[in-house]
Amino acid sequence: MNQYSLSDAMTDKGNFTVPKLPDSNMGFGVLGVFLGLLLEVSTHGPHAVPRTSWRHQDLDLMEFSEPGIFNYSTLLLSEERDALYVGAREAIFELSKKNVTVRNNKVEWTVEERPMRMCMLKGKSKERDCLNYIRVLQVLDNEQLYVCGTHAFQPKCDHLNLADFTLEGRAADGRGKCSFDPSQSFTTVMVDGELYSGTAYNFLGSEPIISRYSPYQSLLRTEYSTSWLNEPSFVFADVIREGRNQADGEDDKIYYFFTEVSVEYEFFGKLLIPRVARVCKGDLGGQRTLQKKWTSFLKAKLVCSMPELNFVFNVVHDVFILKGTEWKDTVIYGAFTSQWGNVGLSAVCAYNLSAVEDVFSKGKYMQKATVEQSHTKWVRYNGITPSPRPGACINNLMRQQNISSSLHLPDKTLQFVKDHPLLEDPVLPIGNGPRLITKDVNYTQIVVERVQALDKNIYDVIFTGTDKGVLHKSVVFDGEVHIVEEIQLLKDSEPIKNLLLSSETQSLYAGSDSGVVQAATAFCGKHPSCGDCVLARDPYCAWDPRAAACVSIRAASSQHLGRLIQSLKGDADKCPSVPNPPRKDYQRVTVIPGSSVELPCLAHSNLAQVTWKSNGSVLTEASRFHFLGESGLLIYSVAPEDQGHYECWSVEWAPAAGKNFTRLLAGYVLTLDLPPVPPQRTGPVATTTQETSSAHAAEGNGKALRAPLTSAIAPPTFTATVHLTSPPQTDSSLTPPPSSPSRFQPKHHLPPSASAPHPDSQDPAAEYLQHNNSAALLFLFLLFFLLFLAALAYNCYMQYLPAPCLRMRASLLGSHKSAPHPEYHACEGAETTTAAAATDKINMSEQPTRNGSQTSQNHRVLRDTGYETEPECGNGRIPSHSFEDYSQCQEKPFDVDCESQSIQFADADEPC
Ligand SMILES: *[C@@H]1O[C@H](CO)[C@@H](O)[C@H](O)[C@H]1NC(C)=O
Ligand SMILES: *[C@@H]1O[C@H](CO)[C@@H](O)[C@H](O)[C@H]1NC(C)=O
Ligand SMILES: *[C@@H]1O[C@H](CO)[C@@H](O)[C@H](O)[C@H]1NC(C)=O
Ligand SMILES: *[C@@H]1O[C@H](CO)[C@@H](O)[C@H](O)[C@H]1NC(C)=O
Ligand SMILES: *[C@@H]1O[C@H](CO)[C@@H](O)[C@H](O)[C@H]1NC(C)=O
Ligand SMILES: *[C@@H]1O[C@H](CO)[C@@H](O)[C@H](O)[C@H]1NC(C)=O
Repeated sequence: MNQYSLSDAMTDKGNFTVPKLPDSNMGFGVLGVFLGLLLEVSTHGPHAVPRTSWRHQDLDLMEFSEPGIFNYSTLLLSEERDALYVGAREAIFELSKKNVTVRNNKVEWTVEERPMRMCMLKGKSKERDCLNYIRVLQVLDNEQLYVCGTHAFQPKCDHLNLADFTLEGRAADGRGKCSFDPSQSFTTVMVDGELYSGTAYNFLGSEPIISRYSPYQSLLRTEYSTSWLNEPSFVFADVIREGRNQADGEDDKIYYFFTEVSVEYEFFGKLLIPRVARVCKGDLGGQRTLQKKWTSFLKAKLVCSMPELNFVFNVVHDVFILKGTEWKDTVIYGAFTSQWGNVGLSAVCAYNLSAVEDVFSKGKYMQKATVEQSHTKWVRYNGITPSPRPGACINNLMRQQNISSSLHLPDKTLQFVKDHPLLEDPVLPIGNGPRLITKDVNYTQIVVERVQALDKNIYDVIFTGTDKGVLHKSVVFDGEVHIVEEIQLLKDSEPIKNLLLSSETQSLYAGSDSGVVQAATAFCGKHPSCGDCVLARDPYCAWDPRAAACVSIRAASSQHLGRLIQSLKGDADKCPSVPNPPRKDYQRVTVIPGSSVELPCLAHSNLAQVTWKSNGSVLTEASRFHFLGESGLLIYSVAPEDQGHYECWSVEWAPAAGKNFTRLLAGYVLTLDLPPVPPQRTGPVATTTQETSSAHAAEGNGKALRAPLTSAIAPPTFTATVHLTSPPQTDSSLTPPPSSPSRFQPKHHLPPSASAPHPDSQDPAAEYLQHNNSAALLFLFLLFFLLFLAALAYNCYMQYLPAPCLRMRASLLGSHKSAPHPEYHACEGAETTTAAAATDKINMSEQPTRNGSQTSQNHRVLRDTGYETEPECGNGRIPSHSFEDYSQCQEKPFDVDCESQSIQFADADEPC
């Protein structure tokens, strides 16, 4: 495996192997990230664009919040009681699952005077920390919920009686069940009345623990040791029931997902690693060794990377377990980003539960070993493992050996699992790569629903929530990703903290700091035409020709299913053909000569390209014609020869169908109104006249420039596009359409002076973006090539590269010994290199360009790569950490022996 761009070249050392570290490979790690990103952006980019963008106000979303109450981050759906329970700050709500605006019950749970004072004495803030954040809501039985809150940094748990919605008031210690700190990540799951949690056990949040609280048996927990848990950030836990009725008598297992600081890779600073860990439900702890500790705790690395681009998604934010009818059909979905957050990429990886099980039941263990006198490394254990296999659940085979519970496990097995909780083999994603990669978003939440489409195939529809309150809905078709739509779920740009899905109500529920939002899983009715309905490729939706509407296939009765049109390939030719309206029905627009006019045309899709035709021939952008991205056409200073027919066509490429679909979106007849000579005016004033009204537009009102869209074309096709025209879009969190930075900004297009028509200063850049992409890319490529050369030279200088380079270096420099703090210098060296590169870059981009647009273009793309904000510092070092780690490293007892450089590159990461 060449994951994490750390080559695992193994060197035999007795019965274990030393994963040798990154030499040359690593030198290009960070560069690889940037080059990879560039490739990503240029090749994968278009696929990851959501087809449709819905703003918050476009949709009927149901919202709930109460004044003065915040942090609605804990959600629980109850199938029995038809309710959504919400844990917020100092309050618990019962909402109707069908409509979250309906509040059925509420109970407050505040912090008393004394704990509040204690909390403040310990230096916590009264308004922020010393409150009761409800963070655990779990179903105990039909009558009760188990609830826990942070309770001013003294977590407490209680029972919530559902009959009268009151707390029973027997508050118990919540330590280990709920976090102390309301902002610290943690997870819980209730399994058969026993609470499994992953959280911190102390006030400082420094003692991580995975534990089980049971009314029937004693508490079980993890060892307090960095080899078990090393600064974990828990995201999810759930049970997979394998059932004892199986032939092998396997136990049910609880899986935990978290990101922690790696122990097995040495890195410049803290390298985060996503993990899956599991414990067995029947675990009772050991008899002598591991008393009241898990005997079945094992963990492994989750891999989510683009190996071909050397790019790693190493932070898991949320996990959804899609359970099949058989446990083997279970698929685990994870939402990932990279530790290098400003790269701006998110990914979804899927894992086969069988693959996870295989790693736990057959994988090699890792062990801590001291090499080179004082240095500790994690290496593969190649010796003989004790029997029964350490960490295995009790199964029939063990029962035959008279081991009927973990209490009977031999000490040898227990001692081994205590020292070797980490497996070497990684869990690889299905298809060895991400299902979905998106740029410029940070995914925070994920849920997945399995949907049967009309073609009888099953599709996994992935819903991902972002840190900006946006929801993405994606489907993977034969390895090709399609983002059906993005939805501005939250009014404000804030993170989606929790996301649940109910197949029964066909709704998604999102919790955030400001409230709870309920959204339908599909907005079929929003697709105005058959073409849109089919090109959306939404497995939930199909076109009903008789009703002339896009409908949800679940809402359709079974006898109507046959007539519905759905093509998940996006083959809009399946639609009944609609004749284009005759030209005489086009909307008439009459303007005064010399004024400007905007002809609106809204493409419903971010994937469509809009072309304008006048008098039947394609219009190219000239000084007078200006394309407003996908919102319309602006004609400056209309002259008599501009009169005629104008048509707005959308061309949408459906890759799966291998076809372009061309549709007429709007048609206009432009005529000049030769007016009785108007009184002298300072500038031309646009007038938009319809057949029915001849009102002159008010001066200074940009909106009056737009010809109304409503009556553009008769068929129902365009009725629903109207809502998009209304207020100009201001949401920056929704994906801007690929080629239209100037969408929805009619206000900017004030008519220029008639004598010297010129587009406003922003727009040539947009034009440039559209037409000169390849030149920009070439330019970028050259830039990166220069950077690459700089990095090569630098790495060669720093002796990170193989022999030929070293020889060259030796001949150039003679063979100097490196300074006592080579890495520290390395960092400095890198910074100068970067600075030099940056100077180059500035010089290059400041070269005179035709109209200045190139400069802004370059800056734009550079900013996108994150290059400018992340100075490269040596070999993949995280620059912001380097100083901090420098000091940390001095405190660590076993770190680096700088003089002995025999595992030269392995040690190179720990500055000392
Ligand atoms: C709770 O909500 C408030 C208001 O939105 C926010 O400022 C704060 O960070 C939230 N606290 C936590 C712990 O999420
Ligand atoms: C998971 O792996 C098992 C065994 O290799 C295989 O039978 C099953 O089809 C796989 N499931 C998925 C969803 O890929
Ligand atoms: C298991 O225990 C039974 C009775 O206690 C004994 O007869 C049998 O030999 C034991 N088997 C093993 C494999 O130890
Ligand atoms: C993603 O999160 C990182 C770290 O929190 C932040 O720096 C970055 O700006 C975010 N990116 C986007 C596109 O929101
Ligand atoms: C369209 O055709 C009309 C009449 O045939 C002509 O007067 C006009 O100039 C043409 N307009 C354009 C933009 O080509
Ligand atoms: C589809 O349309 C696009 C844009 O108009 C064009 O570049 C492309 O060549 C067309 N592809 C096919 C197969 O017609």
